[in-house]
Amino acid sequence: MNKLRPLDPIDFAPADLVTAPVSATNPATMRAEVADALVALFEAARAEAALELQSQSAYRSYQTQRTIYANGVAANGVDFTDRFSARPGHSEHQTGLAVDIGVPSGECSFDACFGELPAGQWLAENAHRFGFLLRYPDGAQPIVGFDYEPWHFRYIGVELAAEMRAHGIATLEEFFGLPPAPDYAD
Ligand code: DAL
Ligand code: ZN
Repeated sequence: MNKLRPLDPIDFAPADLVTAPVSATNPATMRAEVADALVALFEAARAEAALELQSQSAYRSYQTQRTIYANGVAANGVDFTDRFSARPGHSEHQTGLAVDIGVPSGECSFDACFGELPAGQWLAENAHRFGFLLRYPDGAQPIVGFDYEPWHFRYIGVELAAEMRAHGIATLEEFFGLPPAPDYAD
C-alpha cells in the first residue's frame, strides 16, 4: 500500500493481532507471523552483533492513525506532515505488518540518524533475512511518498524480501511495476 493504494475498507483491522514478546516502548502489537519474525530478527541482532533492539511503534488502528496525523497537521501543516505521517487508511501500521525499530537508549529514535547507528546499519543489511523491508529508503520519496525512515520496516515475507534483494530493487513500487506515489490523489 501507499498514498495511491489505501486500505479497503479504509478502517480495515487485521484479525490475528498478537503482542510480540520483545522490548517495546508502545505495545508491540502486530500480526502473528510478523511477531514471530520480529522475535527472530531481534534474537539474531543480539547473537550476531550484540545489538539490543526495541519496537517503538507497531499496529496502529485507523482511529489512532487519524489522531497522529491530525496532530502532525496541527503542529506542522499538511504539506510537511504528508512527508512523514500517513493519512488514516494509508498507513502500513494499520495493516499490522509494520514495525518502527529503535534502540533502548532512544538514540536517534524516529530520526534519520538512526540509519547511521550500528543498529540501523545492521537492520538495513539483515532485516530481509527475516522478511522485513526497509520501506522508505533514503532518496525514495518521489517513489514511496515518504521521506527516509531507516526505522520503519514492513514485513513482506522472506521469499519476496530475498527476491527483491537478489534483484537489487529497494521499493515495492519498482518491484511490482506500480506507479510512483509521491502524493495523494486528492
Ligand atoms: N510514518 C509512516 C509513513 C506512517 O505514518 O505510516
Ligand atoms: Zn513506521
